Amino acid sequence: MNPSVNGLRCPVVAGNFPVSRPRRLRRSDALRHLVAETRLDVANLVAPLFVREGIDEPQPIDSLPGVVQHTRDSLRAEVSELASLGIGAVILFGVPSTKNSIGSNAFDPEGIVQLCLADLAGDVGDRVVLMADLCVDEYTDHGHCGVLDGPADDPNTSVDNDATLEIYGRIAVAQATAGAHVVAPSGMMDGQVEAIRTALDTAGFSSTAIMAYSAKYASALYGPFRDAVDVTIASGGNRKGYQQDYRNVREALVEVDADLAQGADIVMVKPALSYLDVIAAVRAHVNVPVAAYHVSGEYAMLKAASANGWIDHDAVAVEHLTAIKRAGADVILTYLARWFAETQQ
Ligand code: PBG
Repeated sequence: MNPSVNGLRCPVVAGNFPVSRPRRLRRSDALRHLVAETRLDVANLVAPLFVREGIDEPQPIDSLPGVVQHTRDSLRAEVSELASLGIGAVILFGVPSTKNSIGSNAFDPEGIVQLCLADLAGDVGDRVVLMADLCVDEYTDHGHCGVLDGPADDPNTSVDNDATLEIYGRIAVAQATAGAHVVAPSGMMDGQVEAIRTALDTAGFSSTAIMAYSAKYASALYGPFRDAVDVTIASGGNRKGYQQDYRNVREALVEVDADLAQGADIVMVKPALSYLDVIAAVRAHVNVPVAAYHVSGEYAMLKAASANGWIDHDAVAVEHLTAIKRAGADVILTYLARWFAETQQ
């Protein structure tokens, strides 16, 4: 029976005061929790981890408080702990001790990420999803995400798209051979997903999944990450020639469609907090899982403001992660993963 107001039958319709009183469902934690539309779950979080070749002790990263460059051994310990905390996945980034023009450490079977993937596959097996970032910027002496078509110091030089695809295919096979369950191309080259899918399938890795950084924007929020991987882009360059322009959202759907047509299993939007509209648009557009990368600059802002006592770290952290999930991300890559698993679950 509907309640009545002034003798009229009157359903509880939002805004129909006084019948509708949204505050009724906000009266207690239990009620609020019962009707919450969005829940964070540690199983959806991916912890980005850095491993550096040739160091004996983990190295702190000044601009990413609480995050370190791991040694091979400290990485193993970290991933075992993350697995027991219920973290869904880890994504590895390598910092090689020597870099060159094509970034060959990225596909060397003895390259740092390949060695670590093999360690981790033995340690945690299928208990945690092992992902590898697939790009060459950490491995090239010029810091670009692909091979160059001219001298690094020439302003007319650009990244050679198709020559880079061949290298990405080799990296994918090296990572899959070493034990990666998911490879994650982040270089924003056209055709990269197709090149990687073909290379994997040809090498017998048809079960290795691809999480494509599909809508990856040329963002100023990657600064601390570049400290973490010791990358400086040659001659004051930038990535605007291959990463997306942040004024565009429809273009993100073009990139997502292209990646899905080429065989992506998961599509990603990056960064996350400044691109919640893009996450929502991609979520509405596709039926595959959507990932979002809460990037280094977003994390660093939280750490800096809370260190100054200007905001409450834990409250803002949960609010931010919830916003990313609410916008439509199924999977969140975040440097907060361990903190969340330890304190919020
Ligand atoms: C490229 C890559 C970058 C990030 C993830 N993969 C850097 C870039 O595109 O310059 C940034 C992640 C972050 O800022 O946390 N390999």
